[in-house]
Amino acid sequence: MELLKVRDADALSAQAFEHVKARLLEKPDLVLGLATGSTPIGLYQRLVQAYRNGEISFARARSVNLDEYVGLPPNHDQSYAYFMRYHLFDHIDMPEDAHDIPNGMARDLEAECARYEAQIKRLGGVDLQILGIGTNGHIGFNEPGTPFDSRTHVTTLTEETRQANARFFNTPEDVPKQAITMGLATIMESREIILLASGKSKQEAIRRLFQKEVSTDLPASILTQHPRVTVIVDEEAGALLP
Ligand code: GLP
Repeated sequence: MELLKVRDADALSAQAFEHVKARLLEKPDLVLGLATGSTPIGLYQRLVQAYRNGEISFARARSVNLDEYVGLPPNHDQSYAYFMRYHLFDHIDMPEDAHDIPNGMARDLEAECARYEAQIKRLGGVDLQILGIGTNGHIGFNEPGTPFDSRTHVTTLTEETRQANARFFNTPEDVPKQAITMGLATIMESREIILLASGKSKQEAIRRLFQKEVSTDLPASILTQHPRVTVIVDEEAGALLP
């Protein structure tokens, strides 16, 4: 894992943007793995701006998202489908049928997970996966204890994760209890990964990640086994690193 320390959330977004932009210019038909959460919003804003400036195009790019809540329709303002349209897809030239996200409303959730895995294979795999990290070290919605050989699956969210995400919902009870997430083995098959962490709440997860002890207690720790991972942290998130 390569570690890049930057000053603050803004510098983190700028650094991540330069990274994604470079890959997109090298390979216009890049397959992007996208993440939600507050951390990548600044990156998406910069990508939109660069598209508007004519610096980059997504016309040939494709994307898959990491995860989606079970039971939220795509027009629900807290669904990840909505988030992605709001922050990115509505503002760029990626064709409508070129981005995919798990369908948390599927009647047969298991079949939806299988469809999603097949879709990633059909795209030839993910070239560049963007990740955030949960305060408990989750990536996507792979909570502590998730097996490293997991593929796209339905997962039950921990109370810690539901509380962390409650700020986006009217009441804490509104936070869905389940989600569909790419599995850890699915994420590990990406050819390249960048993980972004910003703010004090991520300090402990980042400290544990750089202890480089691989354990399902810290799902992100599997990334230490990947040949091409860049971790970008701001001063607060990296404060406990040597
Ligand atoms: C959610 C998402 C993760 C994300 C995490 C951190 O639980 N499923 O993909 O990394 O939250 O979010 P934030 O960036 O808002 O801290």
